[in-house]
Amino acid sequence: MSSNIVWHETTISKSERQEKKGHKSCILWFTGLSGSGKSTLANAVEAALIQRNVHSYVLDGDNVRHGLNKGLGFTEEDRKENIRRIGEVSKLFVDAGVITLTAFISPFREDRDQVRALVEKGEFIEIFVNASLETCESRDPKGLYEKARAGIIPNFTGISSPYEQPENPELTIETDKLSIEESVAKVIQYLETKEII
Ligand code: PPS
Repeated sequence: MSSNIVWHETTISKSERQEKKGHKSCILWFTGLSGSGKSTLANAVEAALIQRNVHSYVLDGDNVRHGLNKGLGFTEEDRKENIRRIGEVSKLFVDAGVITLTAFISPFREDRDQVRALVEKGEFIEIFVNASLETCESRDPKGLYEKARAGIIPNFTGISSPYEQPENPELTIETDKLSIEESVAKVIQYLETKEII
């Protein structure tokens, strides 16, 4: 970074923005295998939040890779950069007073912990969207597992690239055991208990 760049404090603070919105802001970080239900769950939670007049926004792996992270692939290095950028963007959203829901595989513990370290204590809520590889593979909504097994897609998470499960996530949602409604309720209850909403 150039030594001629100086950080400017904004006139309005994060807490003033949160006060105006009537709720706190945080990152709901959904992590899990492809097909585990991250996007479905993040979108359903956002719908529940919007109903409560909570300002929220979903950042989704497939979509972000169409724009901001176009050009990044699935090597370990590219995935790291993908998550680093999403972490920085999420931090800005939190500063804006928005509850930010992210749905990225984010397979590496170290990368997720780096995002956690970017924001204040309690603002990073790691949600392990836990469904077994067998379940995800049998769902195969985009036909990607089949292609990965056939060797057409390299570095596929769970098949030819690792997924490191969270060790101490704030929440674990077992999408092969809970309904969407039950899963959403669990997240909303967490936010209420922590007095974020
Ligand atoms: S990561 O690991 O966090 O950087 O991945 P992410 O940005 O979430 O992107 C995952 C989606 O990209 C599609 N896809 C792959 N996933 C895993 N491994 C490989 N090699 C791959 N190639 C393409 C896939 O649709 C993922 O979407 P989800 O929603 O997770 O199924």
